[in-house]
Amino acid sequence: MPAPNPREVSAPARSRYSLIVIGSGISGLFVALEARKLGPVLVLTKGSIDDCNTRWAQGGIAAAVGPLDSTAQHLADTIAAGDGLVDEEAARVLCEEAPARIRDLVQYGVSFDSLGGEVALGREAAHSHSRILHAGGDRTGAAIETALSAAVRDPQITVLDNTLVTSLAVERGRVTGVEAIALQTGATEYYEAPAVVLGTGGAGQLFSHTTNPQVATGDGIALAFDAGAEVADIEFYQFHPTALRLEGAPTFLISEAVRGEGAILRNHAGEAFMARYHPLRELAPRDVVARAIVAEMRRENADGQFLDCTGLKSVDLAARFPGIHAFCSSVGIDMRTQPIPVAPAAHYLMGGVGTDICGRTTLPGLFACGETACTGVHGANRLASNSLMETVVFGKRVVEHIASGEGGAARSAPSLSPISPGEGAPPTHAALQDLMWRSAGIERDASSMQDGLDTINSWSRPGTPTTRPAFERRQMARLSALMLHAALARTESRGGHYRSDYPSRDDARWRRQQVWVRE
Ligand code: SIN
Repeated sequence: MPAPNPREVSAPARSRYSLIVIGSGISGLFVALEARKLGPVLVLTKGSIDDCNTRWAQGGIAAAVGPLDSTAQHLADTIAAGDGLVDEEAARVLCEEAPARIRDLVQYGVSFDSLGGEVALGREAAHSHSRILHAGGDRTGAAIETALSAAVRDPQITVLDNTLVTSLAVERGRVTGVEAIALQTGATEYYEAPAVVLGTGGAGQLFSHTTNPQVATGDGIALAFDAGAEVADIEFYQFHPTALRLEGAPTFLISEAVRGEGAILRNHAGEAFMARYHPLRELAPRDVVARAIVAEMRRENADGQFLDCTGLKSVDLAARFPGIHAFCSSVGIDMRTQPIPVAPAAHYLMGGVGTDICGRTTLPGLFACGETACTGVHGANRLASNSLMETVVFGKRVVEHIASGEGGAARSAPSLSPISPGEGAPPTHAALQDLMWRSAGIERDASSMQDGLDTINSWSRPGTPTTRPAFERRQMARLSALMLHAALARTESRGGHYRSDYPSRDDARWRRQQVWVRE
């Protein structure tokens, strides 16, 4: 059988569609599947269809489906984790609609793990109940991506891979399509649709240590900002406490579900140190655990700490965490008998393109969902495993809204900060990543952030980028500048934004969002 043309994963390309989706992770594919009833759908992705952050998600997807659980408790946990900034309407929508979206995923072919005939539910930090559904043990994201990529082989859905969207077309204040480069030929293409959905994921690649794959460069947020959409909460970045940190090995997520099963964090002296930092110890909120690990690293002048699973005799670690077990084995660590060296790594952006609970941005015709979007559902700090759920809850709402024909746009924020983040680009991805890790990492202060901004401002403006790396570098620099401006302006610490020069939360001045718009 001849190999399929890599650019045409399903139907042939045309130039006008009912809907254009940018991104092929869970957000993009779920939206495409739900929207095929509206007419032909085009999915554009700059890599291959399954080159996305979703594939790397381990822990699972949160929904109050257990017999002792309730949406009210899921909601209370989501609000508590968000450190005073959660949009309660969005969070209520998320928690109430979660069980129905699990049923949708099952219909699309996702098979969640079970135990004794019931769905198996894992535990993660800051959840009052075991409510994390998982698939393939710790391969939840891969199981979802595999099922959805198979389901989108549909005559109504065209997937063009290796296609980089370089700008959104805006006519009379409305998004009407996209301009893109077909990376294999270098040709510029134009596609039109009455609605465009951004599902481009996060921006972990802004930092030198990250759990995110190379595609996660925040393109969608930069595209929307350039087109005039509002961007919110961009200073709130979540660092996952436990990523593998081993000389010569790539950064690899060691799921919070491992701590949920009882793994203990230890320092080089073998001390289980978390009790000194928080009563919930290993299951304290992520920002607390990440900073505790950094404090121990500093105290010991060490590159990392250890996650010790060797006492978990009742858990078959190779069966419960096959992906982590296999990866650790491949770098010479048997997690059943040896502690895993870990350190925090950039993981998830709470902020993004501002949307309402229908996924509408402030630009008519432009929608966003998943990590690209900011509904306010996570506030300053996301509750574990709410991210995969957010994609499908708000993805479904995007399609329902488009189908309703109501149109419109999200209401503009009451107070906007106009900003021009500059046009410069770093010489390499690594130059920007090192800078952001130092300037806007787990602990920030005014001088580190100002240094970061000064360096970005000193970078010269490149010509119009025609390759993926050049385009990414420009977009990453713009997003980094936005993040630094927002983080400098917020003179307090809250959730994922920790400033050593303003270590306390300041509700009187800062219990509010910052929303940015292009000057
Ligand atoms: C993890 O498995 O620890 C990550 C889950 C998440 O980020 O929600």
